[in-house]
Amino acid sequence: MIKSILSAALAWGIVGVLAPRSAQAQAQAPEKTREKVGLRNLAISRGLRLGTAAPIDLLRSDSADSLAYRAFLLSNFNMVEPENDLKPPAIWKGEGVYSFGVADWLLGAPGQLGWAQRNGFAVRGHVLVYARDEGYTLPQWIRDRGAGISPDKARQLLKDYIYAVAGRYKGKVFAWDVINEAIDDAPNQRPFQMRDSFWFRKLGRDFVKLAFQFAHEADPQAELYLNEYGAEGLGRKSDAVLELARWLRSQGVFISGVGMQWHRGLGEKVVPGSDFYQNAERLRKDGFDFQITELDVALPVKPYPAEDPRHGQEPSSPDSLSQQADAYRAMLRYALSFPNCRGLQMWGFSDRHSWIQSFSGGKNGAALVSDAAYQPKPAYLALHQELAASSPPATP
Ligand code: XIL
Repeated sequence: MIKSILSAALAWGIVGVLAPRSAQAQAQAPEKTREKVGLRNLAISRGLRLGTAAPIDLLRSDSADSLAYRAFLLSNFNMVEPENDLKPPAIWKGEGVYSFGVADWLLGAPGQLGWAQRNGFAVRGHVLVYARDEGYTLPQWIRDRGAGISPDKARQLLKDYIYAVAGRYKGKVFAWDVINEAIDDAPNQRPFQMRDSFWFRKLGRDFVKLAFQFAHEADPQAELYLNEYGAEGLGRKSDAVLELARWLRSQGVFISGVGMQWHRGLGEKVVPGSDFYQNAERLRKDGFDFQITELDVALPVKPYPAEDPRHGQEPSSPDSLSQQADAYRAMLRYALSFPNCRGLQMWGFSDRHSWIQSFSGGKNGAALVSDAAYQPKPAYLALHQELAASSPPATP
């Protein structure tokens, strides 16, 4: 496995990295890549922000896996988003206590450049407020103190945090998910069908408005998004997202648009005329941008046979890989069809590192464009072909 990962690193064009560099050398020098083989240059010439989520620890380590991982990322994307490292639990350790070390590696401490800028990546920030109360969304100290925090205190905490984070990376994060997953899955009586969360209980619907206001004050140039899942087509959730976005704007609050997560499977037919196109179109008519923020296309999987040395699981049906390729191609066409689509980002790119398997209890997986050894899957080839064939937008 290690051998095949190293050969993947070479194939993706990382040159001279087999001898591990010191952390300092790595922090200072731009990575060397042969980018022309991958999707990155195609996306740049097409004017498309093409990105991926990535765990920062994997990006910065010198393990063989990390070398292959970085090589693929450098050759294929021009945008990156920390998968978990900019979530409140990763940064917010107590009142006024922030842990910026990991994020600084990617973005640079104030006055310095980070890995992302040295290597030409636009960075999406995810997320200022994750509007639910689980351990991966709300810092533990707030979960512990929850009931004892007054609304006024909550407002002050929200302001302090957003100013601290969006302020620190001002000018380095081109777009923030200001709010994530605020809309509930179940119909309810709360405004905009919101989820019951710590922030909602303290501040009502105004927590969303305040978060957008604070983010805009902290970094006036950044694009600001409401990010959501299950709101890609037409329906109760996407109606609620649109109404919330309209309300924010009617209150004089700056909002760029809507992030659509797009964790999907093979069932969705993303074709012109579908409700997915209709939803993007109604956002456009209302003057809202959107981004595809977390694309993956999960397949039913089964474990490899015990004697097979490969990592992870394989699709249960061999046909599903070509259906998955069609799904990725359809997503790219959809992104390129809308002038208000401001980027296409995947939730990872290698089946070696994907949240889908644990999230689905092992039933689904193989959701990304390269396999566990960083070899391109049919989905990757479909994107390559589609991007190469699509003509660059006309210059005005
Ligand atoms: C997921 C990460 O991928 C996992 O590593 C983590 O354990 C849980 O969160 N929607 C989002 C992301 O907006 O933040 C989630 O990320 C996946 C669903």
